[in-house]
Amino acid sequence: MSDQVQVVLIAAAWAGGVGVLGLGLAWLLRRLSVRWLATLVAVVAVGAVVAGMVGTARAMFLSDHDFGVVLLVALVAGVVAVTVAMAVGGAFAGWSHSLQQDARRFGESGEFVGDSRGPAELRALSDELARTSAKLAESRTREARLEDSRRELVSWVSHDLRTPLAGLRAMTEALEDGLAEDPGRYHRQIRSEVDRMVRMVDDLFELSRIHAGVLRLSLQPVALGDLVSEALAGADPVARARKVRLGGSVEDGLLLHADPAELSRVLSNLLMNAIRHTPADGVVEIHGRAVPEGVELSVTDGCGGLSAEDMARVFDVAWQGSTARTPHATDGPAGSGAGLGLAIVKGIVEAHRGRVAVANHAPGCQFLVQLPT
Ligand SMILES: Nc1ncnc2c1ncn2[C@@H]1O[C@H](COP(=O)(O)OP(=O)(O)O)[C@@H](O)[C@H]1O
Ligand SMILES: [Mg+2]
Repeated sequence: MSDQVQVVLIAAAWAGGVGVLGLGLAWLLRRLSVRWLATLVAVVAVGAVVAGMVGTARAMFLSDHDFGVVLLVALVAGVVAVTVAMAVGGAFAGWSHSLQQDARRFGESGEFVGDSRGPAELRALSDELARTSAKLAESRTREARLEDSRRELVSWVSHDLRTPLAGLRAMTEALEDGLAEDPGRYHRQIRSEVDRMVRMVDDLFELSRIHAGVLRLSLQPVALGDLVSEALAGADPVARARKVRLGGSVEDGLLLHADPAELSRVLSNLLMNAIRHTPADGVVEIHGRAVPEGVELSVTDGCGGLSAEDMARVFDVAWQGSTARTPHATDGPAGSGAGLGLAIVKGIVEAHRGRVAVANHAPGCQFLVQLPT
């Protein structure tokens, strides 16, 4: 065996021994600060060098004096290494402590403000926390909006029910006391108020089914042309009464997989809205055509255009335009509901995995429904 191989083997045995000892110590100290672990690594590194030298001192033919010098040099190197290790470990501990403080503030305030400092792992952790914080903020806003709209819904619905109920009480009292000059008119008005409230309660029920996720669609092949014809026929008397011209066309042979009853509700809500917002002599049109995504339905009216803010809110539950919340019993089925119609439209369309949108389309606006076939 050559001298060098011998030296390598002896040094490996001694240094390896120190290494194993170091691993054992590291395992024992694993719960301490990273500062102590870094120091341990430095001590083990220098210790391994010293152990290797002690083991091979004879093979190197070092004099006692030279060996003493080498050990001294190793000692000084050891002190330097330990100092550097403690400084680096200390810095790491500092970064980790400041991240810990940031995380604690995150827990208290719900908002993470941290700066990405330190080594890659800590920066990645800090970035992850920042992302989580952004997601939390987003869901808080969504929750607050939902809560707002729920509160709004309850208050508007009670308002919308109280007004006609007060009217009904006044009319029934007048009838009871024999004070009504034209009882027939009162009866008709009572009937139409009751119809309106029934529609409102029905809308509320539908919306609660949509929101609870218990809307069960019975999907079947539906000929869009037939559905649109039915909706137009249903809306025709109302359009005539308001002198709105109603028209439409659907490409031949458009079939889709849908729940016909729910889809009819979508069409009739959109048509009634369009008729209500179109002035006399205006035009309301409904068109159906095939698009790459499936089928597209458009309902165009003469509402005079919507502002960007209105367009952003039309599908919100209980939202109504400025003039809508003055119920007129004479409005009939085209009258305003409780601001639920478009929320229901959106809910039903999305349950069909479709999309609904609104855009301005002179002289009015256009509601576009896209449904997969
Ligand atoms: N075709 C339309 N043209 C213009 N504005 C519309 C149209 N449809 C709906 N809107 C606006 O959106 C609001 C909400 O509509 P909707 O949810 O159907 O409730 P409602 O009909 O009970 O008012 C309406 O009050 C109105 O301001
Ligand atoms: Mg409506």
